[in-house]
Amino acid sequence: MLRCPDHFAPNGYEKMNELDAIVSSAQGAFAQAVTPADLENAKARFLGKTGSITELMKGMGALSVEEKKTRGAAINVAKQAIEAALNARRQALADAELQKQLQAEALDVSLPGRARGAGGLHPVSLTMERIEAIFGSMGFEVAQGPEIEADWYNFTALNTPEDHPARSMHDTFYVEGGSAKAPNLLRTHTSPVQVRHALQHVAAHKAKTDRGEPMPEIRVIAPGRTYRVDSDATHSPMFHQCEGLWIGENVSFKDLKYVFTEFCRTFFESDDLVLRFRPSFFPFTEPSAEIDIQFQSGPLAGRWLEVAGSGQVHPNVVRNMGLDPEKYIGFAFGMGMDRFTMLRYGVNDLRLFFDGDLRFLSQFK
Ligand code: PHE
Repeated sequence: MLRCPDHFAPNGYEKMNELDAIVSSAQGAFAQAVTPADLENAKARFLGKTGSITELMKGMGALSVEEKKTRGAAINVAKQAIEAALNARRQALADAELQKQLQAEALDVSLPGRARGAGGLHPVSLTMERIEAIFGSMGFEVAQGPEIEADWYNFTALNTPEDHPARSMHDTFYVEGGSAKAPNLLRTHTSPVQVRHALQHVAAHKAKTDRGEPMPEIRVIAPGRTYRVDSDATHSPMFHQCEGLWIGENVSFKDLKYVFTEFCRTFFESDDLVLRFRPSFFPFTEPSAEIDIQFQSGPLAGRWLEVAGSGQVHPNVVRNMGLDPEKYIGFAFGMGMDRFTMLRYGVNDLRLFFDGDLRFLSQFK
């Protein structure tokens, strides 16, 4: 189209074309803007303080009222068209930006997910829970003691004085603390918890009664980690024991036999399990017995398997518990929890329990 310069425009008609031209030049400029900053610069050229549309508005001062009306309306139409083009371009740039971002951060949702298998308890923990439940049903509470133990609780209080030869059967790990003559050690058995628990029981009873009421019986088990310098397929330097203690005014070896037989039959879910109490020696029990069990059926049938040490608590130990051995009597036992776990699940190498191999451990879920 042939266009007259502004000052030759004879009437409003040419002015309209001029507005169209501004609009289309704005549309062109906006379309060329590739960044938001480009676009804002382009906008200033048309709608800014000195932009073409703004300049046209300023120029209206000289017009008559009638002219102002038509001219003003026409400029407004142009201005709205430019604003519409501006907004459309803004939106287009924002959409393009978002699209770019989505592409860059694209997730491949077709990848298979990573499975998170459910965890499970360690087989020895399963045994511990089982032991606690069975003895719990027979009225035993559960006690705990420290793994770093004082010489006195681990040996002396258990009738194993310094230089007693039985100490050498319990070669262990000595640690800092205690005295030079009696250093602290990693406990070699759970038996020190017998003494710790009994002393607490007696003190708690004394604090509660001053009328000489009879003391409730002590009936407790103490499962936990124990340590010895020992390592082969059936011995680990760290292993698990569960202690048992029942002290009262009339508790006998017969009760030990009954309780332990009941326990083994329930634990192994087998009624034709036979127990044997084989005379033995422990400094802290007299008489003492190793407990052997024999399955009558299944892969282990016919073999005697040693599972615990036991005996009637020695009068010296009863005294160290703060009790009168003339009045109180009872039994104790200490069983190997790892041994029970191996027998229950048919595992033949103890070390498998402590290697942390998930292929082994996940079979016990
Ligand atoms: N503490 C003994 C051991 O570890 C076992 C035991 C406990 C024996 C209680 C008798 C009474 O070999």
